[in-house]
Amino acid sequence: MYKAVRGTSDILPQEQAYWKYVEEKAACLCQLYGYQPLTTPIFEDSQLFARTVAGGTDLVDKEMYTFEDRSGQKLALRAEGTAPVCRAYLEHGLFNLPQPVKLYYIGPAFRYERPQAGRYRQHHQFGYEALGDADPALDVEVIEMAQQFLLSLGLSEFSIQLNSIGCRFCQPKYIEALKQHYSNDATYLCPDCKVRLLRNPLRLLDCKKASCQSVAETAPKITDYLCPECQAHFQNVQQNLEMLNIPFQLNYRLVRGLDYYTRTVFEVESQEEGTQSALGGGGRYDDLIAQLGGKHTPAVGFATGIERLILNLKRQKTKIPALPKPIAFIAYLGEEARIEAMKLAFRLRQVGIAVIKATGDKSLKGQLRQANSLSTNYAIIIGEEEVRNQTAVLRDMINNKQRAIPLTEIAPSLKQSKPLE
Ligand code: HAM
Repeated sequence: MYKAVRGTSDILPQEQAYWKYVEEKAACLCQLYGYQPLTTPIFEDSQLFARTVAGGTDLVDKEMYTFEDRSGQKLALRAEGTAPVCRAYLEHGLFNLPQPVKLYYIGPAFRYERPQAGRYRQHHQFGYEALGDADPALDVEVIEMAQQFLLSLGLSEFSIQLNSIGCRFCQPKYIEALKQHYSNDATYLCPDCKVRLLRNPLRLLDCKKASCQSVAETAPKITDYLCPECQAHFQNVQQNLEMLNIPFQLNYRLVRGLDYYTRTVFEVESQEEGTQSALGGGGRYDDLIAQLGGKHTPAVGFATGIERLILNLKRQKTKIPALPKPIAFIAYLGEEARIEAMKLAFRLRQVGIAVIKATGDKSLKGQLRQANSLSTNYAIIIGEEEVRNQTAVLRDMINNKQRAIPLTEIAPSLKQSKPLE
């Protein structure tokens, strides 16, 4: 028996209501803030991620799904959504439009991680990006959207962690100071951090291992090293968040797992226990588009993991609307009734009434059992006598009342959808 590959899963019909709920809220939010949908391919040139997310991050070093196609081109399954959006922005000349260009996406991302609750090898992200403007008001908008999105879903147990990691001018000085600090204690660091110290020192700050925590606690703070422009930008973001009453916590050790960030970085943390706590993350990436060959183009964005949102919705027992289902089940007895049932189902669907028609030659009892398990509101039963009279029995499956009804009156009656008396 084949099984879904480890770290991937099927989204069964009973789960789909959650997905539709989240996706509709996402589209609604983006419409409200003027972000337009963009769909990029599932795979890209592997260099797109290798260059932008950058070596020294787990994502590029250990987690990318890379392969060669038959022409020998090196490809990678989409590991995250930001680099593909930037690629599309450049490829389609979106920089010629009035800036900023605001885009959003919903789709799968692939990372070879150790699967556990809330961490998968295929997960789905809803993300949005505002490209072409350095205004701190955009950072605020992106954070505000994240907060409003979670609230609109009915999630309230979360916090927003905020930091600034400076720019290409001020960050190097901080990294020097950080390396200096860690070098003193290098022998106590975990093996991963020993590598980080050489390849990606910023990531030292969010190591969860106890031996590295104490070194991180006394590390210099990046915010003491920001240049005046980055400092002013960060102040502005904080002031405007306060002005809008959007709660946030400064977290000087927040650095994010991808390498393209500059200035603002933020994460939304769930306070629910037992799931992966990062509901989403984002920030500014003012150098990424230039890195891909474009002009210097500041940009900011955010992405959230849909599976994690759904886990939290379930834990918080949030009520979500059920998916629409067919209103009636059409059962029949005998060959002539089978043909009449088929014609009736066709006519009803043509006027927009969703029905399920029995198939095969099950007993009436078996057909009604099926109607019950599909929880349609009504069953329509056609037997030999009904064919002769051009009628059907309309049964209310909720109160079990039933009556004979001319076939021509079934559509208007179902449209009214009242309980039978
Ligand atoms: P990220 O933090 O790597 O950021 O991923 C965003 C979110 O996707 C995470 O906070 C988490 O909710 C979810 N996620 C990530 N990996 C997994 C996984 N293996 N299983 C389940 N969920 C996962 C980015 O990808 C950036 N592109 C975000 C961004 C957009 N920055 C600027 N714009």
